[in-house]
Amino acid sequence: MRVVVIHGPNLNLLGKREVGLYGDRTLEEINSTIKSQAAELGTETLFFQSNSEGELIDFIQRESPNADGIIINPGALTHYGLSLRDALSDSHLPVIEVHLSNIYAREEFRHKSVIAPVARGQISGLGWRGYIAALRSMVAELRGTVWQ
Ligand code: DQA
Repeated sequence: MRVVVIHGPNLNLLGKREVGLYGDRTLEEINSTIKSQAAELGTETLFFQSNSEGELIDFIQRESPNADGIIINPGALTHYGLSLRDALSDSHLPVIEVHLSNIYAREEFRHKSVIAPVARGQISGLGWRGYIAALRSMVAELRGTVWQ
């Protein structure tokens, strides 16, 4: 089983960027935690970050035929990235949307996600642990088992 984990614009700056909102872990640290949890679950992971919507779409088009699910934090593209949404929808893979911060407790423009309607579900506000919750849920669902 292979799950791709995608991070959108500005998430390369995690650990330095708005630590009060996004936490002090770097993207590398978060990815390595996800990777080790996935290994325990017997799941392969592939990680990608880009600040460009086009590169995110190219990655999804290239990798989705060899993947079983997508976990994505689309960054600000969450709120307006219609091409990214179409790419996720066209992948026909289960998608879980993750946000470190609680987007509903922030500015009004962050309350709308154009990605959510094509996602299996969304986790918002649980910090880096949201990725682990998404991973466990994705793997359990792909295996058709109960999340333990
Ligand atoms: C974010 C929330 C977005 O509104 C913001 O633009 C981000 C990060 C989050 O993880 O909380 O870049 O996706």
